[in-house]
Order: sequence, then structure tokens, then C-alpha cells
Amino acid sequence: MDSMPGMDMSGHAGHDMGAMAHAPAALPEGEALRELPLLANEAGRPGLFRARLTAGPATARFVEGKDTPILAYNGTSPGPLIEAHEGERVEITFANRIAGEQSTIHWHGMPVPAGQDGNPMDPVAAGADRVYAFDLPEGSAGSYWYHPHPHGRTAEQVYRGLAGAFIVKAKADPVPAAYGDTALVFTDLRLSADGSMPENTMIDTMNGRVGDHVLVNGQKNPKLAVAMGAKQRLRLYNATNARFLRLAFANAAMTVIGSDGGLLEAPVAADEILLSPAERVELVVAFDRPGAASLTTLAYDRGWMGPGRPADAGLTLLTVDVSDAPAEAMPPLPERLRPIAPLGTPTVSRRLVFTETMAMNPAGMEMGFLINGKAFDMARVDIVARAGDTELWEIVNQADMDHPFHLHGTQFQVVERERDGKLAKPPYLAWKDTVNVARGETVRLLTRQERPGARMYHCHILEHEQLGMMGILDVQA
Ligand code: C2O
Ligand code: CU
Ligand code: CU
Repeated sequence: MDSMPGMDMSGHAGHDMGAMAHAPAALPEGEALRELPLLANEAGRPGLFRARLTAGPATARFVEGKDTPILAYNGTSPGPLIEAHEGERVEITFANRIAGEQSTIHWHGMPVPAGQDGNPMDPVAAGADRVYAFDLPEGSAGSYWYHPHPHGRTAEQVYRGLAGAFIVKAKADPVPAAYGDTALVFTDLRLSADGSMPENTMIDTMNGRVGDHVLVNGQKNPKLAVAMGAKQRLRLYNATNARFLRLAFANAAMTVIGSDGGLLEAPVAADEILLSPAERVELVVAFDRPGAASLTTLAYDRGWMGPGRPADAGLTLLTVDVSDAPAEAMPPLPERLRPIAPLGTPTVSRRLVFTETMAMNPAGMEMGFLINGKAFDMARVDIVARAGDTELWEIVNQADMDHPFHLHGTQFQVVERERDGKLAKPPYLAWKDTVNVARGETVRLLTRQERPGARMYHCHILEHEQLGMMGILDVQA
């Protein structure tokens, strides 16, 4: 919806309608890319990853001379990079030190038991600690992440700084170690000239918060130096609340090797990537020409309500400097990465219809973000399923915006997309936990839950999740 007929979007009493009053700060660019700090394993014995994550207030220096109050895990935003291995047990003590707010840690995309997944039904009170414990099964290697999921506060806690990458490493990794392994976590910062982070406006709650600056590992347009001929393994994370990232490398060749839930069967060359909120992609990028090879954004129209649609084309997110000096010869990427078994014939099918509603009442305009006509209710089970059943889920977007669909507890396989009566198969088989469902589009996917318990499914524009675009799947043993 580009305009709202009959409605004055610019001046509701009592609401800051958008970015008009906000004077954005300029951020320094071109610093050397920081590696994410690694979360240290304190277990001291093989087979176990044990650590502590404390969520609490911290201060960031985005702009010289100005302190910005943020939320951070162990003092950093993005949070520390967690690297664990298939077959390991994970025990992470979570300390919630966010004043006056409950929180949780949700292990986005990971195959953890329902009671360990940081559901909104299992809050950790302000000041309290809890242990999250789970095993990383064989075959679970992939690019996951972690973030809070408390009822009604997820969007704020994430945009204030709480999100981190969780990489599960394979026992036998077919990707040459010479490519390195670099996580690039994209977050979206809105920062005022005085160094403060403005709260969400009504425009933000409708569209999801889109900020002023896309950051990579907490930096604006940092610089990465590589030698000519080098290949780099890059894991891209969209950890923004609501920013769609359509990405391309200039002057470098991009190959997709993995999705949300780990490696593909075989590498696939790509000119561009659309990464909707919460999606991840694993790339091998070949830098064969000297000069600048930058990661930039292309225009993408994801649907927008009201003023302030962000112009996303042409932002440089990362500047790669390719030197004249050639790199040491790099081993080639293998032709096969790993097998992916198709999920097979479903025995159950379900249909989830996403809609937006709008109503005027004396208090102003009220938006509804609904699944099958309902807003989220923590006390209601929406779907009952059986562990081990293969199900076909049809996600129908009848709304005016794209909605990235996410399901907890498992990885699924997209089988088909339909738009304007045209069917399209995905170009390759992939494990996914989040998939964009564009306006007017239907996405069909196969899914199977192996572990019993309550699982969330929702739009990963966090403001939409918060406004009700979420449901509960009860998996029974
Ligand atoms: Cu990334 Cu329900 O979450
Ligand atoms: Cu999740
Ligand atoms: Cu949405």
C-alpha cells in the first residue's frame, strides 16, 4: 500500500508519525572490519560447550564524543559469536540484567527441545538466571543465531542491540579451510545526532523499524582487505527488525553454498541475493580483480505504509579492497557439498493466511497483523501436530507487504511458490527456517517436527510478530 486514501498519515495527535522530527547522526565509515568476539568455552572437557550470556545495558560509541545507551550480550552488540560443533552438548547460563524487563534467549533455527527454545511462554524475569541446555545432533551444522523472544518486547530488545550469531561447525567440512569463515551480521541502527536511539514510531510499528544505517558486525561500511584471487567464505545474517537486503557484490563472483540450515547439495552461482529479516546465506566469494569489490544493496519493494519509505538501492555495506598482489593458489570448491534428503510425501496439509487489517476508532488508527484472522494469544494453541509427520504448509500472503515466515524447532524445505497464477519451483533444495512470502504470493513448504512441545511460527518483521502475526504449534509425541 503506497498511500492510504482518506487518511492523513502525517499528523495524528499524540503520535510521532515518522522520521520527520528525527535528525540522524552521521557515522564514520571505512574502519577495518572487526571480527565478532568469540564466546569462550569454559567447559574444559571435550563434547561440552559451556558459557554464560548476560543481557543488560551497555554503552556504544557510534559517534565520536557521544555515548549511546544500548542493550548487549556480554557487553557487545552484536553479541559474541558462538561456535560449537555437531555432537556437542551446549549449556549456556543466561543472566537477564535488563532493568525491569523480562527476556529469553531464542536459538533461532536450531533443533533444540521446546522447553529450551526461549519461547515467550518461558520468560526469564529481570534479575534472574536460567540455564539453556541442548545437544547439537549430527548433521545440524549451519548458520543460526540467537535473540530475545519475550512477549511484547522482542522488537525493542533486538533493535536496542540484542542479537548474535551461533555457528554449528560440521565434523567434516567440505569447504576448504583456506577460504576462512567470516560471519557478517547485519543490524539496523537508527541514531539521533545526540547519540540516542529513538523509540519506535507508529510508522515503525506498521512497517517494522527501518533505521538510518545498516551495520555490519556493528560498523558502518567497514573495510575488508583481501589478496587478488582469494576466495572467502562469508556467512551473511539479516539480524535487522525489518530491513530487506537485496545484495550484490561488485567486481567479485558470488557462489551460494548454504542457507539457514547449513550447506546446499552443490554450489550455485548467483548475481544477487535477497535476504529478508532473519534469513541467512553462506557464500563463497571469489575476488579475482584488483580494486574495490563492494557489497551493495539493490532496490527492493517490500510494500510500505505511510511516509518515509527507505531508499535502499546503492548503499555500500562492506568495502572489499582487493590488492594487486596475488593470493596463494586456493583449492577449488568441491562439486558436491552434502546430500539433502527431500522431506517426501506429506500426510497433513495446512493453510496459513496472512492479512493486515485497518480500523479507525476514536483512539486513532488501529492495525491488525493476523494469521487466519487471529492475532497471537499466548493461551491459545493454533495447530496441533504429531512428531515425525511430514506436513505441507501453504503460507498465503493476502496483505500489502511482504512477510518473512519463520517456524521454530526445525528446518523446512520450500517446494513451490505461486504468484498471479504462476508456479515456480525453487532453483535448489535447501534447509530453511525463514522464507519471504511476498505480497500476493503463496509459498508451499514441507516440514517435519521431531521433538514434542510448543513451537512458535510468525512473521519475522519483529513489530508484526509483536502486533499479533504469530501462532503456536503444539507438537505431540
Ligand atoms: Cu528469530 Cu521466533 O524467532
Ligand atoms: Cu526462531
Ligand atoms: Cu510481517
